[in-house]
Amino acid sequence: MFSNTEIGIDLGTANVLVYTKNKGIILNEPSVVAMNTDTNQVVAVGMDAKNMIGKTPGNIVAVRPLRDGVIADFDITSQLLKQVMKKAGKAMGLSLRKPDVVVCTPSGATSVERRAIHDAVKGCGAKNVHLIEEPVAAAIGADLPVEEPVANVVVDIGGGTTEVAIISYGGVVNSNTVRVGGDLFDDNIIQYVRKKYNLLIGERTAEEIKIEIGHALVEHPELKKDIRGRDLVTGLPKTVTLSSKEIQQAMRESLLHILEAIRATLENSPAELSGDIVDRGVVLTGGGALLNGIQEWLSKEIIVPVHIAPNPLESVAIGTGRSLKFINQLQKVSR
Ligand SMILES: Nc1ncnc2c1ncn2[C@@H]1O[C@H](COP(=O)(O)OP(=O)(O)OP(=O)(O)O)[C@@H](O)[C@H]1O
Ligand SMILES: [Mg+2]
Repeated sequence: MFSNTEIGIDLGTANVLVYTKNKGIILNEPSVVAMNTDTNQVVAVGMDAKNMIGKTPGNIVAVRPLRDGVIADFDITSQLLKQVMKKAGKAMGLSLRKPDVVVCTPSGATSVERRAIHDAVKGCGAKNVHLIEEPVAAAIGADLPVEEPVANVVVDIGGGTTEVAIISYGGVVNSNTVRVGGDLFDDNIIQYVRKKYNLLIGERTAEEIKIEIGHALVEHPELKKDIRGRDLVTGLPKTVTLSSKEIQQAMRESLLHILEAIRATLENSPAELSGDIVDRGVVLTGGGALLNGIQEWLSKEIIVPVHIAPNPLESVAIGTGRSLKFINQLQKVSR
């Protein structure tokens, strides 16, 4: 009855999620903060702030303090965490007094930043704070038997980074991180449309294009989508029709980077674990696991089975929240 509430926070570069054992995911919002630059105050966080991106008056800016897998602005990240803890507290009512918190930080976070995140969460009223590595959390959240001496291979394709890790016996045996993820796909699309059509589109439009007609490098029936942006020559709004084939080409290089990282990790795996990998395959988590055709493409390229986690966007948060019981066994967890 007096047991402590445990919550897990996935502080992702694209989305921040909070998970509790009893209630599941209690918060899931974009990692965006809107600030008033005159007063330096937070105007909105999460979805409200994301809706302001690219549409705000001069003195309000919507920023993503975590970008490309690293913490670009630490103060604003702390503010985001504070608001997240507040919202989570509201969702939990009184039961969120002095929770034990496990936070999954972006892989690019330095030890100083990790320490600072630890302190920021502690400052929000947490009793104990633990930090966990993203791939380990992703594996736990995807229901893989991480504490057993078998090879669990996780490929987490997030907004900022893709992490490939082989986890066995509660620890990371081998891993690779590349700064390629959903954000870069969006950027590839923006650059392509700009070059080919002289058309300027925003991040949100690029993301919509990716989700609707983006494909991994597989054959597929061609899809089309009309998009609007600003003509760079006339300055006026213009509509063009994009094909899924050209979007696929725009994202090609980035996809190949991800493939290389997976290959490199598998090639360096200990011989004893290779058999497991061939049998058990690879599990995809993160938003990138939802890209059309990614499962088909990767399984063809790496010739081992590829599975998609049950809720790829939630795996890390779920794993983070469930990890407390493993935490003492896990080797690479810093306190
Ligand atoms: N259906 C979809 N198809 C393709 N991409 C998608 C889809 N749904 C979401 N995404 C992309 O997934 C990314 C967000 O994934 P996720 O929430 O796992 O990232 P994150 O954990 O915040 O980032 P990181 O792990 O790098 O810190 C975004 O780039 C988003 O556009
Ligand atoms: Mg993530």
